[in-house]
Amino acid sequence: MKPQTFRIAPSILSADFSRLGDEVRAIEAAGADLVHFDVMDNHYVPNLTVGPMVCEAVRRCVGIPIDVHLMVRPVDRLVGDFAKAGANLITFHPEASDHIDRTLSLIREAGCKAGLVFNPATPLHYLDHVMDRLDMVLLMSVNPGFGGQSFIASTLPKIRAVRQRIDAHAAAGGQPIWLEVDGGIKIDNVAEVARAGADTFVAGSAVFGAPDPDGGYRGVISRFRKALESREGGGGKGKG
Ligand code: DX5
Ligand code: ZN
Repeated sequence: MKPQTFRIAPSILSADFSRLGDEVRAIEAAGADLVHFDVMDNHYVPNLTVGPMVCEAVRRCVGIPIDVHLMVRPVDRLVGDFAKAGANLITFHPEASDHIDRTLSLIREAGCKAGLVFNPATPLHYLDHVMDRLDMVLLMSVNPGFGGQSFIASTLPKIRAVRQRIDAHAAAGGQPIWLEVDGGIKIDNVAEVARAGADTFVAGSAVFGAPDPDGGYRGVISRFRKALESREGGGGKGKG
């Protein structure tokens, strides 16, 4: 099996917001590949989190890419603000945008990588006409809005289906597309999620909520990497 790049993206939703700068510095020092930045508007989802000003503050604390997950409606107004605030990737839920193709273009024109997010029951047909405009597909394995929920198992066949579509796209000469999974990812299920075809793993409560008693965040992240490596028979570590 060819070595694969896996990325760990701790979600700040479970961080201590009173010490957010220290928290994001700590996960970068612990080897995280991305900061997953959950934006909720109390409209598209029943919770309210943070906006571009906080993204800009996080940007000043870390060098790793910021992966902004927009759970907002409408979407377009915020794209430029997050790009200016230092976002590297911006994903949104297709049903929250009236013009998916336009929103994807706005994100790329602002200099960011673009992705679509699918809730557990959102059909994959939204991928049909935009594969060439995507840098990432994000599959939700919980209903969005809160950290600490349980992984929904019906996401596994959906991951396999998207993996097939991404591989077919690449085989036909298309650009690389990351496949990220978000919600209920733990050390004991990450290997199964990787076997289904994911390469990028969001973990909120499993990182910020459960630092290793000895190794802190570094300990948890290395346990994630070990679980991923054992799935591969070695060689699972790496950035890119
Ligand atoms: C949920 C958010 C997730 C959340 C994941 O709406 O999009 O990123 O923080 O949290 P855990 O890993 O605790 O399920
Ligand atoms: Zn998220």
